[in-house]
Amino acid sequence: MADLVLVTDDGLVRTVRMNRPEKKNALTVPMYEAMGAAIEGAAASPALRCVVIAGAPGAFCAGNDLQDFLAASANADGLAPLLVEFLKTLARAETPLVAAVTGLAVGIGTTMLLHCDHVVAASDARFSTPFVHLGLVPEAASSLLGPRRMGHTRAFSLLAMGRPLDAAGALAAGLVNSVVAPAEVEAEAMKAAREIAALPAEALAATRRLLRGSPDAAVARIDEEAAEFKRRLASPEARAAFEAFLARKR
Ligand code: COA
Repeated sequence: MADLVLVTDDGLVRTVRMNRPEKKNALTVPMYEAMGAAIEGAAASPALRCVVIAGAPGAFCAGNDLQDFLAASANADGLAPLLVEFLKTLARAETPLVAAVTGLAVGIGTTMLLHCDHVVAASDARFSTPFVHLGLVPEAASSLLGPRRMGHTRAFSLLAMGRPLDAAGALAAGLVNSVVAPAEVEAEAMKAAREIAALPAEALAATRRLLRGSPDAAVARIDEEAAEFKRRLASPEARAAFEAFLARKR
């Protein structure tokens, strides 16, 4: 399991890499657990000042594993508790978060970016959140942070209508800071991470707290979304959508 998430420290920067490329980095519960632990671990280490979240070439993250959602649907479970904990870890993260996105970023692959302080996207990046198409609702406090970041109409287009954003659209919407060639994304993200890590730590921490505000509202929204998500997961609409994906002909 350990290699489904790779954690490497380089100077003041920790990289947390989703590493399930054969499934386009669809996330499973052990992966959420490992990623959350790596982010919390960074906050506990004064030697680490920034975390970069990265994926695989062409696949930042395909969202939650739909096989797992189908099982949760059949068992009338909601979002896995460790998934919800991971979302709250993102909301409460004390270490600045940078993301390096190449290729697809689906579902939580996009909504986790709303918790990041700096996002570098590849020109091939494609951001999509097909929650409603899957019979679901947005998660990760994206129903709160999405409109705050990009305004209601753009958030509605992405989070409710499920219209994807390409890299240029994500830049225009303020979801990402910069767009570079796919081969340059990681270097560019690392450059930003080192720049952040080199800032005076206490002044940066205070500034970040001021900019982000209290995490309480995001944490409360994560719970509110999770309650609705649980109802939606159990719905025939959602089950039919998961089954259709898993049975699709290619
Ligand atoms: N859950 C489970 N498996 C997934 C997955 C997911 N979210 N996303 C991709 N995979 C698997 C595929 O089933 C396939 O597995 P297989 O080779 O064993 O059949 C493998 O990853 C490669 O995916 P594939 O669909 O062949 O790649 P693609 O490049 O044609 O398409 C996606 C990539 C991401 C567009 C497509 O896989 C997709 O739509 N995935 C679902 C995304 C989603 O709805 N996520 C949940 C959001 S809430």
